[in-house]
Amino acid sequence: MTGDPSGARLEKTALFVSHTAEMGGAELFLMDLVRHGPPGWGACFLADGPAARVLEGSARPAIVLAAGAGVLSVRRGSSAFRLGGAAFGVVRLARDLARAARGYRVVCANSQKALFVAALATRLMRRPLVWILHDILTDPHFSAATRRAAVIVANLCASRVVANSSVTAQAFVAAGGRASKLHVVHNGFDPAAHPRGGLDGDPDRGAALRAEFGFDARSVVGLFGRLTPWKGQHVLLAALATVPNVQALVVGGPLFGEAEHEAHLKRAAQDLGLSDRVRFTGFRADVPDLMAGVDIVVHASTEAEPFGRVVVEGLLAGRPVVATRGGGVAEIIEDGRTGLLVTPGDPDELAEAIMRLVSDPVLARSLAQAGRADVAERYAITTTCRDMAGVLTDVLRPG
Ligand code: UDP
Ligand code: GLC
Repeated sequence: MTGDPSGARLEKTALFVSHTAEMGGAELFLMDLVRHGPPGWGACFLADGPAARVLEGSARPAIVLAAGAGVLSVRRGSSAFRLGGAAFGVVRLARDLARAARGYRVVCANSQKALFVAALATRLMRRPLVWILHDILTDPHFSAATRRAAVIVANLCASRVVANSSVTAQAFVAAGGRASKLHVVHNGFDPAAHPRGGLDGDPDRGAALRAEFGFDARSVVGLFGRLTPWKGQHVLLAALATVPNVQALVVGGPLFGEAEHEAHLKRAAQDLGLSDRVRFTGFRADVPDLMAGVDIVVHASTEAEPFGRVVVEGLLAGRPVVATRGGGVAEIIEDGRTGLLVTPGDPDELAEAIMRLVSDPVLARSLAQAGRADVAERYAITTTCRDMAGVLTDVLRPG
């Protein structure tokens, strides 16, 4: 049992398990839960990584089962020998997880790979399982087999499925998931951790950002997100090629082994003649500060975004946001009132929306003001923790 400052015995309630400790949106969600939720909530990563390092110094360090990294790295097209080895490894990992989770009353799998391991572990422990679903399961990048396997395991083993948006929830049902198990719990944020830029916040942040990255007085748009084709950084580059007076900060790293894509994007910026107007920062731990320093936050995903943390964060920074229509984004932004929505994958529409905001500061400011007020109220971390606690209470209710 972990001690608490009062010396009282701390009841371990829920262990949230992710297969990776990279700093993706789903892992940031998990970290926020254990930092802001009740003391009985803990984190577990089935691989070592930066998210584990961040929690290391906190009151609630994560459990790390580093062996998961090798076991769970199988990809589509792996040999039968490799798959057989992985299956054996998953059983061992599940046994390790069951041991590590001893004392917790419920295990919450925070990713698809974690679901398979946690489903076995909770059988061994005779504890309930909750699956937190961060993906739109009907998306083409999930193979039919992965989708079927996840839905079957969820239907058979999970007491509840928590989806990060209504769209994610609907896709789970469309893929064969049981609607009766579903709850929607949004990502939540602490507005105090998101400084506000622009005229309604701290206008010096724009100057500081320009100095740090060598930008001039022209407008700066920021795109925040891991470097992977569906996050649409290439669409922003194509849009910039048609708007000569706009500079861009592209923030994010190739989190899940897509270094080639990063090189490709940098080459594309060069080929489009954008080298003097675009900066690539790699992964940054200070996204809220950077957001407060840009003039416009752009979200350019080419596929439906399951939720879209960066969209809420951009609005919390008091910046006007242009985002692609669809997925969870449509639940966050009301087009024309709290932001501008554009067609995914259309650089001309994106360029037009950016120019609209650059040339109409009154519109930009009114969208930013309405957007911040709206998301600060709807996406508070306190609400997220309360909603998640409600689901867990329900799961643990006797009978
Ligand atoms: N992020 C970060 N550093 C970066 C780029 C992104 O901390 O360099 C954070 C960003 O602030 C957001 C998360 O990563 O909280 C991305 O979450 P989102 O839901 O937008 O997309 P995901 O990557 O989970 O699909
Ligand atoms: C996933 C989704 C993203 C969502 C995040 C947190 O990574 O791709 O849209 O915001 O999870 O729920």
